Amino acid sequence: MTKYIIHGGKPLFGEVEISGAKNAAVAIIPAALMVNGVCRIENIPQISDVTMSLKILEQLGARIRSVNRHTVEIDSRHIYSTKTSYELARKIRASYYLIGALLGRFGDAEVALPGGCNFGGARPIDQHIKGFTALGARVTVEGGFIHASAEGRKLKGANIYLDVVSVGATMNIMMAAAMAQGNTVIENAAKEPHIVDLANFLNSMGANIRGAGTDTIKIQGVDHLTGGTYAIIPDQIEAGTYMAAVAATGGQVLVKNIIPKHMDCITAKLQECGVEVDEHEDTLLVRRCGPLHKANIKTLPYPGFPTDMQPQMTTVLALAEGTSLVTEGVWSSRYRYVDELKRMGARIQVDDKTAVVEGVDHLTGAPIQASDLRAGAALVIAALAAHGESEISQVQYIERGYEDIVNKLRSLGADIRAVDVPDEDLDLTAHIS
Ligand code: EPU
Repeated sequence: MTKYIIHGGKPLFGEVEISGAKNAAVAIIPAALMVNGVCRIENIPQISDVTMSLKILEQLGARIRSVNRHTVEIDSRHIYSTKTSYELARKIRASYYLIGALLGRFGDAEVALPGGCNFGGARPIDQHIKGFTALGARVTVEGGFIHASAEGRKLKGANIYLDVVSVGATMNIMMAAAMAQGNTVIENAAKEPHIVDLANFLNSMGANIRGAGTDTIKIQGVDHLTGGTYAIIPDQIEAGTYMAAVAATGGQVLVKNIIPKHMDCITAKLQECGVEVDEHEDTLLVRRCGPLHKANIKTLPYPGFPTDMQPQMTTVLALAEGTSLVTEGVWSSRYRYVDELKRMGARIQVDDKTAVVEGVDHLTGAPIQASDLRAGAALVIAALAAHGESEISQVQYIERGYEDIVNKLRSLGADIRAVDVPDEDLDLTAHIS
């Protein structure tokens, strides 16, 4: 097992290159199963969720070739199974995208239900199931597996109104409907950048999907998808995490390989906190010299403030002058990291979905434990800003979504190192992203 040792209190300076978006990659990789040919996917982040997704595809019969560190070729011409192994699929939450992909191409999918949740709240998939059923699939849940089957018929396009704005359900239904007979309309669809990215990927392979990025997505079913080359968008949340790190530590960093539009709400909130952000074509220059100001945040579906930045921003606000209010508007609960921040001296009270954050002058290093991916990122930021040494355990959660985080931070002048320690009893299934 690996831990991060961080000596905090050093401002960050330099340049950081943002990797491909995790939440796009974990959908686009399963979507490659739908293609009767070879997909070359570029700008793939080197993170363990991607490694796991590729392993699952291989186990179904896909042939994977690494072209270079960030490019893979996936050949899905010889898929021989539509049932994933429990051991592999349960390890990543995003394994549910295999249902839409396999059902969409083969009319059948049997996928282990994703593992438990570490936010402390429920993560239902009823909207995914509602969508598959509307397309004519029979969906059953038995023995830890979800089985979706078109029962030998072709799926049929349908009008589907999502009861909640769900990223996962929107993407899963898009995949299932891409080769269905006729037209599908998804209303109240999620609009996150990775939804547009998946639609662009599928369209570049021959699908006919319009309106991704708005709340109405129209899909005209096509007979088949063919191979091609596609580059994944940069990771909005990874970029936001480095911006938040600069906000917390002070310093000046050029965040490279981003799409500024995707960063708008994060940029605006950091500016409200007194952080200077200059936008260029595909970079952002982030600088914090003076004190941080309080701000209120409510997380919402895109283009609102992303829930996946909530822990990192709460950490920034823990160091701001005055009292800030943070409200979680997407998940029923996502504050497990707060107890760890409090152990470092933060003053935060959580009441249901709201955290009251009373800024303190400084945090103090401590042994702390990541409970999920973004919680882990928040603790790294806290430790970078804190006085003294912190030791972060359970960093395997962080490495599921942040490529090479230790070296990226070291190149910015952070005093962080990864050390191997004897294994403890880990529960990887609790990962939530
Ligand atoms: N919901 C339902 N029923 C459903 C699906 C969702 O009630 O069938 C509810 C959820 O309980 C939640 C809300 O709808 O309250 C939004 O959930 P959504 O389906 O949008 O989340 P997700 O697709 O499971 C993805 C990201 C999460 C991110 C959310 C929200 C991936 C692999 N995961 O999850 O990312 O928080 O969208 O933006 O794309 C992360 O990267 O750290 C992470 C957790």
